[in-house]
Parts: sequence; structure tokens; C-alpha cells
Amino acid sequence: MNVTGKVAIVSGAAQGLGKAFAERLAAEGCRVLAFDINPAVHEISGVEAMTADVSQRGDVERVVAAAAEIGTIGVLVNNAGAWKQTPVDSPWEQALADWDEIMDTNLKGVMMLSRATVPHLQAGGGGAIINLSSYYVLPAKSDGTNPPDTDLYNASKWALNGFTDAWAKYLAKDNITVNGLAMGAVDTPMLRGLFADGELPAALGDVMSAADIAQQMMDVIASGRSGENVGAWVGELVTLNEQPALHQRITG
Ligand SMILES: NC(=O)c1ccc[n+]([C@@H]2O[C@H](COP(=O)([O-])OP(=O)(O)OC[C@H]3O[C@@H](n4cnc5c(N)ncnc54)[C@H](O)[C@@H]3O)[C@@H](O)[C@H]2O)c1
Repeated sequence: MNVTGKVAIVSGAAQGLGKAFAERLAAEGCRVLAFDINPAVHEISGVEAMTADVSQRGDVERVVAAAAEIGTIGVLVNNAGAWKQTPVDSPWEQALADWDEIMDTNLKGVMMLSRATVPHLQAGGGGAIINLSSYYVLPAKSDGTNPPDTDLYNASKWALNGFTDAWAKYLAKDNITVNGLAMGAVDTPMLRGLFADGELPAALGDVMSAADIAQQMMDVIASGRSGENVGAWVGELVTLNEQPALHQRITG
């Protein structure tokens, strides 16, 4: 799939992975609509930026309408995400507040932004949807490293699999591919926020850069494959071979 000249929407683009995706898509010749609740998104050069909340339907519709004004929408990157530690024995008040923030951002936001965008992808003859998942959903890779106290975040990424799988199958008729990126640790403000001083501890070893994952995203889009979580880990070459069998595409 060639995305040059198409409009690409990227949620949560003020920093980290979203910023890298927006910059890479712009470098590939896309016209990018980048948005975030953080107004720092306006500091990215070479993109159209908006301050908007993916968990608010009115904001989502405003973003997609603005993107459609720019040109033919061909790419949607559902990147905005919230991460919290909410173990099952944490206070109810914390759990319910975290539930709203995590599920509204990581799931309801993806559902709404995709619903608003899909009619444009269909009208434009096809496109690509990328959902930001996590290696937490790949049992063969996350065993032993999946933090035990990220209940809601973990659940939100497992639930995201339902969207990736269902939409990939349903939208194949419209030449729309839908894939998840399910990688390990990437050096972003979200990862650094886990550590008190914002410094990555040596024990963590090497981590990937957001630019690495932006490259992977471009490769996945160009490949035309669909319905898959594609992982990435430090020290392992990622190759996009033949697609795995349908039942192995989401959880590895
Ligand atoms: N960094 C990692 O190691 C890693 C690994 C696996 C998956 N992911 C996923 O990748 C995505 C990006 O992660 P990151 O590390 O760049 O995170 P980050 O926290 O550094 O950046 C996330 C961005 O999303 C924005 N955002 C949050 N809620 C929003 C909302 N309601 N509306 C609009 N924007 C909102 C934030 O303001 C922020 O700019 C997330 O979905 C995350 O779960 C990250």
C-alpha cells in the first residue's frame, strides 16, 4: 500500500511514539493531522496539529472533519494511550477513576476515532488502520516480564485485539488493512515516567526507539497484511514473512 499523498490521522502525537509516527508519515509524503490533549502537539513541524481529546466524541468528529478537509484520508494510527498501575487490591476509587481514563482513551477512543474515519477510508478506496497494542498480549513473549499490577492497561490492550481482529475481517472487502503493533519497551515519556527520576535503569537493558517502531509501522502498512499483531524486541530481527494462520495472528 502506498500512502504518499494520502492524509494520515495520528492520535496522541505530542510526544513519544505518536510524534515519531506523525513525523515519519509526513516524511513519507503523507499530509498528517496530528492531535493530542497536550497542546505541545502544535510544536511538531510539517503537520496539521489540533488539541483534542480522543475520548470525547465531539473532539473526534472535529478531528476527522478537519482531516477530510485536507484531502483523502488513507491512514489512521490509534496511538493515544494511558498507562496506570491499578492492582486488583488497590482502592476502589483509584480503580474506578483509572478505569474511566484507561478505557475511555485506549478503547472507547479507538472505537470512536475508527468509526468516524472508516467511512472516509471506504470512500477513498481503502487504507490502513494501526492500533497500538503491547507485547503484554503476546503470551509467548510477555511471560515473566508482564508487570502483575497493570490490570486495567493490560485488559485494555487485550480488548483492543477484538477490534483489530473484527475490523480486519470486516473491512477486507473495502481494501482496508487493520493491524496492531505489539512491541516491548520503547524509549518514550510513558516508559520514563515509570521511574522516579525519569532515567531508564541499566537493569532494563536496551530499549527500542520510537523511530524503530515508526519504521516497523511503515513496513506493515506497505506489506498489505491485515489482522495481525506485529511484535518487536531488542536484539531480535523482525521479519515480515508469510502471515501466520488466522488463529495465530493476534496472540502469536
Ligand atoms: N512506550 C512503550 O514502551 C510502549 C510499549 C507498548 C505499547 N505502547 C503504546 O504505544 C502508545 C504510545 O505510547 P507512548 O509510550 O508514546 O506514550 P506517551 O505517554 O509518551 O504518549 C502518549 C500520548 O497520548 C496522549 N494522550 C493521552 N490521552 C489522550 C487523549 N484522551 N486524547 C488525546 N491524546 C491523549 C498523551 O498526551 C501523550 O502525548 C500507547 O498506546 C501505549 O500504550 C507503548
